[in-house]
Amino acid sequence: MNLSANLTALNTLRTTPIVDIKAENDTVKTFTMKDKLCAKAKPGQFIMLWIPGVDEIPLSVLNAGNGEVSVSVKAVGDATRHLHDMKTGGIVGVRGPFGTCFTESRGRVLLIGGGTGTAPLLFLAKRLAAKADRLSFVIGAKTKNELLFLNDLGSVCSEESVLATTEDGSYGLKCLATEPLEKLFDKEKFNLIYTCGPERMVRKVYDMTEKRKIALEASLERLMRCGIGLCGSCVIGKYRVCRDGPVFTAAQLSEVKDEFGVSRLGFDGSRIQP
Ligand SMILES: Cc1cc2nc3c(=O)[nH]c(=O)nc-3n(C[C@H](O)[C@H](O)[C@H](O)COP(=O)(O)OP(=O)(O)OC[C@H]3O[C@@H](n4cnc5c(N)ncnc54)[C@H](O)[C@@H]3O)c2cc1C
Ligand code: FES
Repeated sequence: MNLSANLTALNTLRTTPIVDIKAENDTVKTFTMKDKLCAKAKPGQFIMLWIPGVDEIPLSVLNAGNGEVSVSVKAVGDATRHLHDMKTGGIVGVRGPFGTCFTESRGRVLLIGGGTGTAPLLFLAKRLAAKADRLSFVIGAKTKNELLFLNDLGSVCSEESVLATTEDGSYGLKCLATEPLEKLFDKEKFNLIYTCGPERMVRKVYDMTEKRKIALEASLERLMRCGIGLCGSCVIGKYRVCRDGPVFTAAQLSEVKDEFGVSRLGFDGSRIQP
């Protein structure tokens, strides 16, 4: 193994206390930790968070700066549930930040987020607020309770630029996040679209933007172990999501169309739905 000095530093596990915990809804909590390296993360990058005695998991950065890093975590299994049970002052470990980041574009941009996929896009939107001509946001979730960061988005983008969708119609439009897109594309010419969320949603956004030749950057998730391109558990086609992603361009995604939105490796190495 020949890791560069920089990667060696990023890849060294640093133990640190949780300095703040905020409940976003019934199943998602935001955790803030002190760490000088992770505090330098750019929008789109992820960290590996070690929950002592349980597991180490990849998480997108929600916020970074002033010596701190925050992640928003949905409780779905063993590691995330243990993390949700932890209190302020509890010790965790961090590695990273790792992976590619979103391009901080000028011009008119649209961000499309689903579930916890909204977290890295909110981080990006905060950075773009001073640069882009106009920011528009589409966020989708199953129910109103699962819509994340509505208030934060309203203050970053202006409320009229945020379009919310829920599958049960409990807030905003009753539909999937991808449904209003054709109309939006007819109305406005976007310089760049960013998306992150459930992979089938991301694939649909890709198909729609490809048809209209609109530039796209999308963040993907895969099972991750090492986080630095060595173990192969996050492979998609010729890419390793931890090293070559998680943020991919439309051109890169066009090379892995057979797998993107179709299948991924499960814990036992078998192919499962993303
Ligand atoms: C780059 C990246 C960024 C991520 N960012 C976030 C984030 O900001 N917030 C957040 O809540 N989660 C995020 N995730 C997903 C998170 O890593 C998993 O939810 C977590 O690892 C689950 O661990 P667990 O032990 O609680 O669940 P497990 O018991 O390991 O699994 C519970 C269920 O979740 C599924 N699962 C586990 N990991 C993944 C994955 N990577 N992709 C799809 N399904 C998975 C399993 O197949 C299983 O069905 C991210 C994943 C990646 C790769
Ligand atoms: S997680 Fe090991 S190669 Fe990506």
